[in-house]
Amino acid sequence: MDLLVVGSGLIGTSIGLALRGQLDVALHDPSVAALDVAVDRGAGRRWDGIEPFAHCVVAAPPSAVADVIASLPAGGTFSHVASVQRAVQASLVDAGVDVTAVCGSHPMAGKEQSGPAAASGELFVGRPWVLCPSASTSTTALSAVRQVAEACGAEPVVMSAEEHDAAVALVSHLPQVAASALAAVLGASGGSLALAGPGLQDTTRIAASDPALWVEVLRENASAVAPLVRQLSAELGGAAAALEAGDLGAVEQLLRRGNDGRERVPRKRGELDRDFVPVSVSVPDEPGQLAGVLVSAALAGINVEDVRVEHLPGRPTGVIELLVHLDAQAGARQALAAAGWDVVRA
Ligand SMILES: NC(=O)c1ccc[n+]([C@@H]2O[C@H](COP(=O)([O-])OP(=O)(O)OC[C@H]3O[C@@H](n4cnc5c(N)ncnc54)[C@H](O)[C@@H]3O)[C@@H](O)[C@H]2O)c1
Repeated sequence: MDLLVVGSGLIGTSIGLALRGQLDVALHDPSVAALDVAVDRGAGRRWDGIEPFAHCVVAAPPSAVADVIASLPAGGTFSHVASVQRAVQASLVDAGVDVTAVCGSHPMAGKEQSGPAAASGELFVGRPWVLCPSASTSTTALSAVRQVAEACGAEPVVMSAEEHDAAVALVSHLPQVAASALAAVLGASGGSLALAGPGLQDTTRIAASDPALWVEVLRENASAVAPLVRQLSAELGGAAAALEAGDLGAVEQLLRRGNDGRERVPRKRGELDRDFVPVSVSVPDEPGQLAGVLVSAALAGINVEDVRVEHLPGRPTGVIELLVHLDAQAGARQALAAAGWDVVRA
């Protein structure tokens, strides 16, 4: 067997699905239900607990990684996919594992759902996959996990565990706390949410994440996340004080700092949001409209980067917003209008 995946949840099953037809993959999970779903979905075959493996990816919760590796037969190399790296690296040393055979890694792709049913073989395509070798990691272990990442369609990036944890605190862990806090206010307010639109969807999507998994991640990276949450809290406290004092200048300053921060957010590697613009089409709220617009776009050779659908409350129409590269905007508008779509004026 080429690869053993231990932990057949969202990430483990997605790895198995991505490697289907490329590597001989066996799966193991203490949850019979999770293993059954992963095998049924074609992510790999059941591991008998004996068959040797060249490489093993542990896709279990971060706190379980060291014990899992310590319990497996030696001989192959190991990696894990934990969302935090420093704590797992330390736990491997504490568990007395042969750390030369282990390379930490973290695919920067995921979902707010967990479990094998939510897995997808496309999850990692084009996404960064951080490889975090320790000072002791052998080149064999590093190249094994690099090979897995590349075969899943991801783009490997090497970082130290410290660099990784600081980076994910900013781009992943802070947003999770912020979205949860925002959604908690909605939950507590009891006010009507009937007028909510895509802005609320965008800012609360990840508040649906699994609390058990996130508590573990935040505990293991608390020292990097806490100062950022304090900074966010200071921004919010300042905004509340400015609103109460009628100091709209201070509020405007916050909004401008927000514009600056948003400008730095990449849409995809090497390209920022400002490189892309929306082309909006008004459609009746009927089946087949989204597919129709996308087919017209494809026939016109328009490279669509992202799609958003906005339903207008109380109206039988919606707006489909295609995100295209700045250079393609005029051509896309023309082509969609020529195909008979009601292109909304920019
Ligand atoms: N969910 C994400 O978006 C995401 C993204 C990147 C990395 N990760 C990391 O991937 C790992 C798995 O997360 P997931 O989202 O797939 O979770 P999941 O809950 O979908 O799956 C975890 C699986 O691990 C199994 N498991 C639990 N304890 C185990 C043990 N002791 N030995 C073997 N298997 C065990 C569970 O039965 C479950 O099937 C975590 O380390 C997480 O930090 C998650």
